[in-house]
Amino acid sequence: MTTAKLLEPLNLKGLALTNRVALAPMTRARAGAERIPNALMADYYAQRAGAGLIITEATTISEQANGWNESPGIYSDAMVEGWKLVVDAVHEQGSPIFLQLWHCGRASHSSFHNGESAVAPSAIKINEDYIHTPKGKEPHETPRALGTEEIPGIIADYRRAAERAQAVGFDGIEVHSANGYLLDTFMQSKTNQRTDAYGGSVENRCRLLLEILEAVTAVFPANRVGVRLSPNGAFNDMGSPDYREQFTTAAQQLDRFDLAYLHVMDGLAFGFHELGEPMTLAEFRQVFSGPLIGNCGYTQETAESAIAAGHADLIAFGRPFISNPDLVERFANGWPLSPEADVATWYTPGGSAGYTDFPTYSTP
Ligand SMILES: Cc1cc2nc3c(=O)[nH]c(=O)nc-3n(C[C@H](O)[C@H](O)[C@H](O)COP(=O)(O)O)c2cc1C
Repeated sequence: MTTAKLLEPLNLKGLALTNRVALAPMTRARAGAERIPNALMADYYAQRAGAGLIITEATTISEQANGWNESPGIYSDAMVEGWKLVVDAVHEQGSPIFLQLWHCGRASHSSFHNGESAVAPSAIKINEDYIHTPKGKEPHETPRALGTEEIPGIIADYRRAAERAQAVGFDGIEVHSANGYLLDTFMQSKTNQRTDAYGGSVENRCRLLLEILEAVTAVFPANRVGVRLSPNGAFNDMGSPDYREQFTTAAQQLDRFDLAYLHVMDGLAFGFHELGEPMTLAEFRQVFSGPLIGNCGYTQETAESAIAAGHADLIAFGRPFISNPDLVERFANGWPLSPEADVATWYTPGGSAGYTDFPTYSTP
């Protein structure tokens, strides 16, 4: 190991973090059919509040944004009240928490929408086997291309979601623009064949994300707003030949907002499109001057190296945090990690099994 920067405090654009380990956003599908956060979720997040920064699971901004069974939302007063349980429990442990804002876009299905099609930049379907829907596993469907006149409504949904996040007491928000969901599909040429101002050029494909940022930074100050990108990802059938140009331009454009951070899924451990050399954090450093969070497949050692080399300011850990609620303490003490959690419990609706029942480390 090089130095021990990972566990040092960080001033994240004015927000005091006790260390540089972030909890990566992870959908855990425990919010019930009504999508209202609850006491079990509060326990889960409080258990992981050793992280310097908690980023919540993806949270839908509207009914239209839904596409995952029992994931939480932030579009009703009851959801605001539910999230208060989570935020209060995390704040009691002294950790800041950002809400990840989500619109599933084409990674959804008509059975989430009373038989109406899911929406996307263009009518291009996910070329994968199936999607889990309220009716069980179903083949993917071709989404409906959004009309230009519908876009202001989506931006307004993001703005309202940010207002509700602020009413809950979240320290900030992360705009989910990764993993083949709506905003990623607007950015990438593979999924955006529009001929209006939201498609056709690299700049036009960034437009929706930038307009959303204009809207949400009128609610939260920009230094409390992060953005997540997956330039190397294949998840949800993504990966475009011009990925390097697209994501370099996006990061350049994002720089003007003076954001809390840019969260880049630079590692390949969550799937790689193999269309060329992966984009690195060092590349993003050249065009984005604010804090960078790295993610995907990091270990304590590789996280230390990335921070020591100046490539990242924080590293987000996902799967290691599922089975090691006390991940930061284990890092600090050199304790071994528990094996990765069983995939079968990642998204088990309702249950504490594989969710809040992982023990903290105890010396044998
Ligand atoms: C169970 C599970 C749920 C996930 N849900 C989300 C999510 O809601 N939002 C998101 O941006 N990424 C999500 N991801 C991706 C993780 O944030 C992270 O990028 C990925 O697990 C790679 O990091 P790791 O190697 O440290 O696990 C999820 C991953 C897992 C394993």
